[in-house]
Amino acid sequence: MDVQTDVSLKPYNTFGIDARARFFCEIDSLKKLKEALQLSGYPEKFILSGGSNILITGDLNKLVLHIGLKGIEIVEESQKEVWIKVMAGENWHQMVLWALDQNYGGLENLSLIPGNAGTAPIQNIGAYGVELKDILTSCEAMEVESKKIKIFTNEDCHFGYRDSYFKNEGKGKYVITSITLKLTKNTHKINTNYGDIEAELQAKGISDPTIKDISNVVVSIRQKKLPDPCKIGNSGSFFKNPVLSASEFLTFTENHPHAPFYKIAEDCYKIPAGWLIEQCGLKGKRFGDAGVHKNQALVLVNYGHATGKDIINMAERVVEQVRQKFGITISPEVNIIS
Ligand code: EPU
Repeated sequence: MDVQTDVSLKPYNTFGIDARARFFCEIDSLKKLKEALQLSGYPEKFILSGGSNILITGDLNKLVLHIGLKGIEIVEESQKEVWIKVMAGENWHQMVLWALDQNYGGLENLSLIPGNAGTAPIQNIGAYGVELKDILTSCEAMEVESKKIKIFTNEDCHFGYRDSYFKNEGKGKYVITSITLKLTKNTHKINTNYGDIEAELQAKGISDPTIKDISNVVVSIRQKKLPDPCKIGNSGSFFKNPVLSASEFLTFTENHPHAPFYKIAEDCYKIPAGWLIEQCGLKGKRFGDAGVHKNQALVLVNYGHATGKDIINMAERVVEQVRQKFGITISPEVNIIS
């Protein structure tokens, strides 16, 4: 087993935080994963995948296992649908492009999301009206204790808004090794309901969009609003959108009648945290190399040499100002690693 020491994690996290791992191991097979989980005499193990939804706050006195399991295969097919099994280390967007090339539908609204396939179930990634839970049929994961592969059905994953079993009861107990997705082959369900998609299609003069059109539109909306992690370090939305009950929402809208919101259930309203942060005058603000992005206030950015602590300080400042102005406590969506 090739265990490296003192490895910079900068290339492995989209925030571009230059923290170091005391031990580091590349995992490219299930056999290696099993062996690595069995290694004794090392500090705590940490599973690292695409590194797109984490903030590393300092050097890690851990054995980092970097999941590089690759492969996409068709496991079942009917006249109308196809089931694909994607190994955890596959890059999400490359996989979306592969599916579009085969004319497989279902992933187009989830184009250009950073990260790898294996971490998608952990926070039930979602964008432009679609969530992973809408297309995932199952995932496989190695249980850390027994080193056995367990199959989780969609229901077993307990998906919620940016939430799953793997963030709660299952936290630290499993390493996701693959996901299986059900995609459409010919009768695609075109989903244009989410705000900007319709407007962008109209602007391009497209009235009967294909799945490729939807993907292109989503890519262009994301490129306009969200910073490219290859250019400016970030982990996408840093905070979750807060969810208010009907009575909390009533008080909120009385005070802020022009605030945007999404009704997500009879008694549940989601308020865009980006709007709350912008109203606090924080959009585009910069403190040293840590900042709030200029086009989407929900995204915190690293302009170059911010440390994890700098980002945390910035995040605490944002939470406090939103709490003071609106009486709402927003909470991080990214995993804070220390
Ligand atoms: N808004 C502002 N100011 C801002 C940002 C947003 O006023 O700086 C307002 C917008 O005008 C709009 C509303 O907030 O009315 C919603 O904005 P947007 O469509 O950008 O979506 P969001 O709720 O801020 C969520 C996801 C994103 C996802 C988009 C599109 C969360 C935490 N974030 O953002 O996911 O791309 O919807 O579906 O749910 C991610 O998870 O990393 C991510 C980028």
